[in-house]
Amino acid sequence: MESMMTLRASPSTAAPLHRLPSRRAAVSVRASAGASEPDLSVRVNGLKMPNPFVIGSGPPGTNYTVMKRAFDEGWGAVIAKTVSLDAEKVINVTPRYARLRADPNGATKSPIIGWQNIELISDRPLETMLNEFKQLKKEYPDRILIGSIMEEYNKAAWHELIERVEESGVDALEINFSCPHGMPERKMGAAVGQDCDLLEEVCGWINEKATVPVWAKMTPNITDITQPARVSLKSGCEGVSAINTIMSVMGINLKTLRPEPCVEGYSTPGGYSARAVHPIALAKVMQIARMMKEEFSDGQSLSAIGGVETGNAAAEFILLGADTVQVCTGVMMHGYGLVKKLCAELQDFMRQHNFSSVEDFRGSSLPYFTTHTDLVHRQQEAIKQRKAIRKGLASDKDWTGDGFIKETESMVSN
Ligand SMILES: Cc1cc2nc3c(=O)[nH]c(=O)nc-3n(C[C@H](O)[C@H](O)[C@H](O)COP(=O)(O)O)c2cc1C
Repeated sequence: MESMMTLRASPSTAAPLHRLPSRRAAVSVRASAGASEPDLSVRVNGLKMPNPFVIGSGPPGTNYTVMKRAFDEGWGAVIAKTVSLDAEKVINVTPRYARLRADPNGATKSPIIGWQNIELISDRPLETMLNEFKQLKKEYPDRILIGSIMEEYNKAAWHELIERVEESGVDALEINFSCPHGMPERKMGAAVGQDCDLLEEVCGWINEKATVPVWAKMTPNITDITQPARVSLKSGCEGVSAINTIMSVMGINLKTLRPEPCVEGYSTPGGYSARAVHPIALAKVMQIARMMKEEFSDGQSLSAIGGVETGNAAAEFILLGADTVQVCTGVMMHGYGLVKKLCAELQDFMRQHNFSSVEDFRGSSLPYFTTHTDLVHRQQEAIKQRKAIRKGLASDKDWTGDGFIKETESMVSN
């Protein structure tokens, strides 16, 4: 039986020979002829996963017990909570989460649509985390465990961290260039991901040391996300992940006049996640996917993240070109069993379209993005050709007060 693990050279053989761009060569394992179940398995940068659903770095991958649970429930891979060399420097506060509900007045029974956190990276000792990685790889040798790492602007520190995390047996590394709060104050996380010169230098250090596939995790808190994605891939990373959380202020308590989440009367902007960020994540993933399609053809991979709670949301990311789909807040709200629902819903979608493998539809929607100017041109052509009446208003002068809502509706696509 083929090993589910990617091959790695020993840490002493620094040349990244094993970091082969093998994904495209054996991209997905198709369902056997005649089988009716759509096949969810994927192969990304040589890593074989039973499905594309990956635990995103955060509380759902924070210790042995919860990561074991993720494997037992059937997640395709687990990305552990981000670790650094010195956990003593990481001091968390509580409360560190705040939620946005669908009801405009925040009625507590209405669904949660947005989630803000001011949580830092792992505050657990590195040695403890590494022992737990080792234990997990011993118990689940054929499952994919990815270490998430972050360090200060110091080459020796990055090299030590990579060496130690790799020794624990992880299958790949995700580099957290994207945490928006706390860590940038120490020139870490988003402070690197937002500065392409710094990013290029740090990616260079990482890729001269790493002997397993490396994914660079992008921050959305930047004008053009394709720039750091391009720099990371050009610097030798095998893949990019997007997005980390969006810089946010969840709200102001109108009784106390203090911002939330409120710690001893004060707050700090945090990272926004969950369903509310999904449309923003789709846009960022689309931009990166287009850039990768145009500029990279060596098997570089894309892991999409942001607001996934349904198989349909995952299908959207895959239709834009994602190889895997990460979930973090969704697991915090619905638990590890969510993966079963995600798999069933993705398979339902695949059945509806007769797709037998994930690769059958990966990137299929990407060609349908264009510029606004091109949309205008296409619409003018279509009207000419079909001699049809255009849906919606012909010009802004046609808006009326009485019919305003209907007129708005007439130009919405869904
Ligand atoms: C409480 C919390 C803690 C997080 N911690 C990390 C972290 O340590 N490292 C990291 O790369 N991303 C971290 N993230 C970001 C998530 O991995 C993910 O990129 C983001 O939340 C968007 O996905 P989601 O909507 O599925 O949560 C954290 C997110 C949350 C909500």
